[in-house]
Amino acid sequence: MRTLTRIAEMKAVVKELKAQSKSVGFVPTMGFLHEGHLSLVRECRKSADATVVSIFVNPLQFSPKEDFEDYPRDLDRDRRLLEGEGVDFLFHPESEEMYPEGYRTAVEVGGLQDKLCGRSRPGHFKGVTTVVLKLFNIVQPDMAFFGQKDAQQALILKKMVRDLNLDMEIRVLPIIRDQDGLALSSRNTYLNPEERQAALVLTRSLAQAKLMFEAGERTAGSIVTAMKNLISREPLARIDYVEIVDLDELNPVEMIDRDVLVALAVYIGKTRLIDNIIMEVKGEAKRGEQV
Ligand code: PAF
Repeated sequence: MRTLTRIAEMKAVVKELKAQSKSVGFVPTMGFLHEGHLSLVRECRKSADATVVSIFVNPLQFSPKEDFEDYPRDLDRDRRLLEGEGVDFLFHPESEEMYPEGYRTAVEVGGLQDKLCGRSRPGHFKGVTTVVLKLFNIVQPDMAFFGQKDAQQALILKKMVRDLNLDMEIRVLPIIRDQDGLALSSRNTYLNPEERQAALVLTRSLAQAKLMFEAGERTAGSIVTAMKNLISREPLARIDYVEIVDLDELNPVEMIDRDVLVALAVYIGKTRLIDNIIMEVKGEAKRGEQV
């Protein structure tokens, strides 16, 4: 695996790959890799001739009150993991080169970015779309891989790719969970043992939603109320949001008469965790695309 830290170096490598008519697969990450990231890497390796993984903790997507400084980092461990997966190129740019003095430009996906997580993290998705578009411009991937855990991010990035006519495909892969069901996240590392146990309330509340849905409940409000009641019985948990939304615009639905995203964000102690499931209405005409 070759590690590249300069934008020009990365661009030169991509130019060479393209000259050899090789397809480029890309997995953008903020590092501190876990099995969720590695599942994306494995799929990327299966699908593309060359696999590029980026590790860049993007300051633009953290508000001043958030955990940019404390965000877990372990480049040596990440490098070993990526080498073990047979990754071809690791792109690890410096913040100073990504956002030099006088940097001004941003890209936004209006509307979608202000819902769900966007409400309590204003500016977050603008930071994500800006850095991802920059990375796409540098790496020029034919396909890029993201996790369903960040369902809103994936939907926004798909929209950006469509709206800006980028010649590439976004692939979204399933959430990878620990054995007890907790969705893997680099932020799980913040949880102490008691909080780690309490965090399972997210998984349990989604299981409750699924159970009600499978039993025939179609009123979104009833499911959301049951989920909130369950979470509020966990003393270490504080709800940010619990919503059932459509898969195109992320608007709350009243009746579940089409496929929906059940999404939630919950603070466990000081750590904000997110999770989601898609509930599919079988037998109905399927929408073209899923998050
Ligand atoms: O999902 C992430 O890790 C980040 O939001 C991303 C896509 C790498 C952009 O910084």
